[in-house]
Amino acid sequence: MARLTFLGHAAFHVEGGGLDGLIDPFLTGNSMAPFSQEDFNDVNYIFVTHGHGDHLGDTPEIAKRTGAMVVATVEMCHVLEGIKCHPLQIGGAFTFPFGRVKMTPAWHGSSVQGSSDKEMIYGGVAGGFLIEIDGRKIYHAGDTGLTVEMGLLAEDGVDVALLPIGGNYTMDIDDAVRAVKMIKPRVAVPMHYDTFPLIKASPGEFAAKASEFAEIKVLKPGESLEV
Ligand code: NI
Ligand code: MN
Repeated sequence: MARLTFLGHAAFHVEGGGLDGLIDPFLTGNSMAPFSQEDFNDVNYIFVTHGHGDHLGDTPEIAKRTGAMVVATVEMCHVLEGIKCHPLQIGGAFTFPFGRVKMTPAWHGSSVQGSSDKEMIYGGVAGGFLIEIDGRKIYHAGDTGLTVEMGLLAEDGVDVALLPIGGNYTMDIDDAVRAVKMIKPRVAVPMHYDTFPLIKASPGEFAAKASEFAEIKVLKPGESLEV
């Protein structure tokens, strides 16, 4: 069994099988976050889909404080110098003590904000993660547009798909519904909406349109789901 807690935006706390993990822990500056980065003291892994501030978030602070291993692209690991980092790349997988993690494709960018407003440090490609814990498969899409590669996940038997619905930077509701059709997860959870004015979207509308294809769980920030 695995337990997923929504932390607002694209951030999740994932527990089970020896994993106390965070995915894209954007907490400081996230108006939807129910917890602050100081609330996470026992984290052992942090999965970072790409370098944008609303995903890298509090990763450096939490990793330094807890000694957690960051899992990200080779390029992101290079940027995060001084932090324990396991490099993965699209299509690659590694079996960690808690289970297997595969990095999945995402159509998006990846850069880390430098010290000045104009400076952007190259972060490699953006990705998502297929995380297996205790026989459960959790797919976090990261920031992405709809891609045909999502169809490959249909064979994986995804238990829960975490999908962006906010549009503008990622899939909107209608494309996220198409993603559900392609991925065929048991449960889908909408994310990456309402945090900023540009990504306003109705999770209820997504639920109404996608419930024909999977069970839809709309999680309020702080709410958990047992998988
Ligand atoms: Ni992004
Ligand atoms: Mn984003």
